[in-house]
Amino acid sequence: MLCEVYDNIFPKQFIIDLDNKIKNIPLETSNISGAKDTRDRGIVGNHRLFGLCVFYRLGINRVNKLHEESEIFFDALEMIENSLGRKYYVEGIHINLQHSGCDGSPHIDSNSQYEKTIMIMSTCYWEKEWGGQFQLTNEDGTNIIEEHEYVPGRVIVIPSSHIHRGLGPKINYPYVYRTTVVFRTKPLTF
Ligand SMILES: [Fe+2]
Repeated sequence: MLCEVYDNIFPKQFIIDLDNKIKNIPLETSNISGAKDTRDRGIVGNHRLFGLCVFYRLGINRVNKLHEESEIFFDALEMIENSLGRKYYVEGIHINLQHSGCDGSPHIDSNSQYEKTIMIMSTCYWEKEWGGQFQLTNEDGTNIIEEHEYVPGRVIVIPSSHIHRGLGPKINYPYVYRTTVVFRTKPLTF
């Protein structure tokens, strides 16, 4: 299995609070995951999700973006680090929201084989029949290499250079929203 999958890192109440926080932060529609690296590799990936970058830095000291409501995302990161016994250098933190039928296209988050993407499934209540699976695929999405169900609070760690996508809620559930929090990490080399 290429993905690391962790359940039970967060108390239920934390995921409820995280979900509420995300649903009260205005999102944008200009959120294209890993677009440049995806194009560089010649992968089709061309989706536009609702989302927002809440934290981004170009280097260890140069922080380009820090949303005023970011603290809960750093709380989540610390809980992941403490649970896994690791430390991560986080370059960016992103919120994604997909409505029914809004399937992500296959894309990569980075060309580097050393970078990891950490994703939290942050919608606090979910029925399996709603869909929303996370998939590793081939370049045009015709072959699913690995698939993981959407489970509230689930954390998935993937190599950022592997092609992946998140499926939106199925089309017959128009009022279901699938949110994720994504941490883009680099190796700690300082
Ligand atoms: Fe991604």
